[in-house]
Amino acid sequence: AYTLTSLVEEKKLQNRFIVEEDERPKVAYNQFSDVIPVISLDGIEDDSPGGRREVIRNQIGQACEEWGLFQVVDHGVDTKLVHDMANLAREFFALPDEEKMRFDMSGGKKGGFIVSSHIQNELVANWREMVAVVPYPIRERDYTRWPDNPKEWRPATEIYSENMMGLAEKLLGLISEAMGLKTDTITKVCGEMAQRMAINFYPKCPEPNLAIGLKRHTDPGAITLLLQDKVGGLQATKDGGENWITVQPIEDAFVVNLGDYSYYLSNGRFKNADHQAVVNHEHNRLSIATFINPEQEAIVYPLNIEEGENAIIEEAITFAEMYKRNMFNHSERSKLKKLAKDQ
Ligand code: SIN
Ligand code: FE2
Repeated sequence: AYTLTSLVEEKKLQNRFIVEEDERPKVAYNQFSDVIPVISLDGIEDDSPGGRREVIRNQIGQACEEWGLFQVVDHGVDTKLVHDMANLAREFFALPDEEKMRFDMSGGKKGGFIVSSHIQNELVANWREMVAVVPYPIRERDYTRWPDNPKEWRPATEIYSENMMGLAEKLLGLISEAMGLKTDTITKVCGEMAQRMAINFYPKCPEPNLAIGLKRHTDPGAITLLLQDKVGGLQATKDGGENWITVQPIEDAFVVNLGDYSYYLSNGRFKNADHQAVVNHEHNRLSIATFINPEQEAIVYPLNIEEGENAIIEEAITFAEMYKRNMFNHSERSKLKKLAKDQ
């Protein structure tokens, strides 16, 4: 049985981390591409209506139609707060195993520390350590699942998550307008907004070409705001293809990607890019993903179907149902793949 709790000391890649050939990295973690649009939000709120419309149509809208992925700069989130958050996370991951395991989330707990993955039935383990936090809705906060070491972690995470909620609302307003809807249409259909954070630590990996930090996926929710350090490792591909690009890290920027929910709301006009995280053997890497999700009962169905389009989803379902079906497909695919491999 596998008992090691931390990946940091691993000298040799164990079999359980070796991914199938088609899932291995195709592009280097530091071979950066600049094809992902970088969008400044400077003055977007008080801009002349014309300026705002221009950014929405020619930048946000285009980025969402092409990739469902862009980076934001001049987003108004305090950089000191962002740096503190990242440094506290690094301090946590540098703690001894026993200390991190005080917050062990295996066994279905809603938040805490875990090695590798929280997804069941994974064929191959991800090369990462993670802390999951559920900051919203506030009444569901369970502080017993939030690390208390270092002690500044909790207050920093509270402020950070509040700031992420603010930025997400701003962005969902812009995305809503880019869909041709009113500013508040998306936030309204989301209902009571939920937020989950995955604080990812990808230790240096002895054989990064055989492993994956986080395997290919789309995010389920409305949008994700990702903070990544300067190491690099986030990769994306367009339209379900195999042409991977490595997203260029930009200091203090957030990578914004649309999830399945936004894809359905836009009737597929806005994309939910497949993405993954690759690892390397020179540097540890930290990323903080903040997932913005609608409430469980929110309806998944296109908000506007343009002339000549059919709805890409047969019937309106709840977000909870959408998530369940995606997870089912995901695990069925894994099982089929395993069957094929074993034969
Ligand atoms: C994610 O997809 O949630 C994280 C990707 C990354 O660490 O860059
Ligand atoms: Fe993701």
